[in-house]
Amino acid sequence: MSRPRVAVLGLLGFCVILSVCAHVSAQSAPGIKVMPMPAAIEVGTGQFIIDQGFKVAIVGIQDPMLDRGVERFLAQLTARTGIFFEKKAGAQPILEIRAAANSSRVLKLGEDESYSLDISGSGAKLSAPNPLGILHGLETFLQMVETTAGGYAVPAATIHDQPRFAWRGLLIDVGRHYIPVDVLKRNIDGMAAVKMNVLHLHLYDNEGFRLESKKSPKLQEMGSDGHYYTQAEISDLVDYAHDRGIRVLPEFEMPGHSSSMFAGYPELASGPGPYKVDPGGPDAIIDPTRESTYKFIDKFLGEMSKIFPDDYVHIGGDEVSGAQWNSNPKIQEFMRSHGMKNNQDLQAYFNQRLQKIVSKHGKIMMGWDDVLHPGLPKSVVVQTWRGQESLADAARKGYSGLLSFGYYLDLMWPVARHYAVEPMSGGAATLSPDEKSRILGGESCMWTEWVTAENIDSRTWPRNSAIAERLWSPADVQDLRSLYERLDLISWRLDRLGLTHRTFVNQAIERMAGTPDLVALRTLADVVEPVKDYTRINNVKGPWDFRAPLNHLVDGVPAESETARHFRERVDKYLKAGGKDQESEGAIRSQLITWRDNDSKLQPILGRSFLLQELAPLSQDLALLGSAGLLALDYLDKASSSPEPWRTHQATMLQNARAARADLLLQVVDAVQQLVEASGRVQVTVTQ
Ligand code: ACM
Repeated sequence: MSRPRVAVLGLLGFCVILSVCAHVSAQSAPGIKVMPMPAAIEVGTGQFIIDQGFKVAIVGIQDPMLDRGVERFLAQLTARTGIFFEKKAGAQPILEIRAAANSSRVLKLGEDESYSLDISGSGAKLSAPNPLGILHGLETFLQMVETTAGGYAVPAATIHDQPRFAWRGLLIDVGRHYIPVDVLKRNIDGMAAVKMNVLHLHLYDNEGFRLESKKSPKLQEMGSDGHYYTQAEISDLVDYAHDRGIRVLPEFEMPGHSSSMFAGYPELASGPGPYKVDPGGPDAIIDPTRESTYKFIDKFLGEMSKIFPDDYVHIGGDEVSGAQWNSNPKIQEFMRSHGMKNNQDLQAYFNQRLQKIVSKHGKIMMGWDDVLHPGLPKSVVVQTWRGQESLADAARKGYSGLLSFGYYLDLMWPVARHYAVEPMSGGAATLSPDEKSRILGGESCMWTEWVTAENIDSRTWPRNSAIAERLWSPADVQDLRSLYERLDLISWRLDRLGLTHRTFVNQAIERMAGTPDLVALRTLADVVEPVKDYTRINNVKGPWDFRAPLNHLVDGVPAESETARHFRERVDKYLKAGGKDQESEGAIRSQLITWRDNDSKLQPILGRSFLLQELAPLSQDLALLGSAGLLALDYLDKASSSPEPWRTHQATMLQNARAARADLLLQVVDAVQQLVEASGRVQVTVTQ
């Protein structure tokens, strides 16, 4: 059990040596627009042209994982360039690949993922201790391909790269909404592109049990709507992920968030039942006082441990509502007779029993930070969702841990907010080196209350790339301008992998409108974002119905509006230039005119669709914002200060435009407000 931790320490040691001996700040590498930023780059002169003569030669060990990685690389390079490449090795120019050792059959935490990539005008060399590093290096190479006047090319550079953290994961909740295997696979492709290495599957929750058990088949038969993964599908998925250097971590949530188990096996629950997977069903949890519960879990985890080869098994453990424990006299008597003072003590007892079972099946147990009770075995890895301080707290107490607080993609935060979340900050900054080494990394989380197979890509990407960078790149890679510039590029590249984050919005608005004339609707869709944090679920009146269709505009638009961001950047640039940047002003003006004139085009379309009617006030406000911005620009142009009463009137309009409607926020209010306010600060200079 100590093996993974030793391996991580070894890796950290390696990072330190590299950053001392080859420190070229990744931030300062001009023209290298890859994500995540490599640890060290030295930019050379010249470029390596990619043409039909391009060939790859594997000169180190032979490894099937490597061969398949190179095949995918060539297919992606063809997709990027339109050039077909011969598979046979031959004449120069060449990409030479050398791995020193074979890949592991089961990927381990803390394996060496480093690589070195040396690109010159005449060729490129990629070397790594094993195929994992080669896969990462190939992704870097692909991202470096540029369209230049002289052809497709990769700039000359020397890169030494390795991850900052050994655990860089994405959690996908397949319980609330089932996410089909093909969708998971394309998300795995996205993860590989940004060098993430753990897919954490939250395999069931109250709303659905998504995994075939052959030993306890009523789990999926009665606990799901028929949407679940067969064991063969899981094995195929695990192989697919392994090929891309990604571990698959299963989460079997207990004792809460597990009532879909009780539909088939009500005897596991702490209350009498009967149970079905039903919105508004009882807040049911597992009964930890019966020996039969542990027999069931032992059989279940024994079966699942064979299907999921990873060393780790996550048992959830979060948000345990003790209502059923409190109202069950037998459970209360058990607690009294065992000297347990509260439900936390009972959960601690449950976790200790679980840990023994998990360990018996050869696995290391993980849990959410709710499991941090006295007596929790130190081998348990703690995943923090409740606050960053609990990561430091766990490390201080001797537990290894992962950060997920701040990386919840379902909260619809802008990318910069996730990017600012640093695992080693706050309490973690004051830890001893030994304690720090227990922080293994982090995981972004895609909880799917409001997410389905249709829109999961658009909620995950491209924002997940920024979290991937935080976990891979050196801590000093922080520049937001560079982040957003590279994010736009990676977003486009991820699109080529089959992810639908850029295209889904059109599909969503098409079916809402039922008309091919989508321009005006797209104009509105492009400047709104879903409400943030837990606002949407808090707005639900009565029980949340997980079966309700997610077909409103809020379900179609991305978490962060690119159009609004670009508009804000332009306004910023224009105002910083004292209103003298004519190019920016032209672009701002044309955008404002589009918004001002959009409402009259859109209202007739909105009126015809039951799904679009709720957007009418947003559309009207966008028109008002357009008009206000244009008038403000006119005042700025004339160098005459806008009248105070007009600005006061606009302030009310801006305030109204900030309100969420249809669970959507107009994201251009701040920038228009800046223009309005600037128009009141015009300095009239009188020349004589
Ligand atoms: C969680 O968000 N309850 C892990």
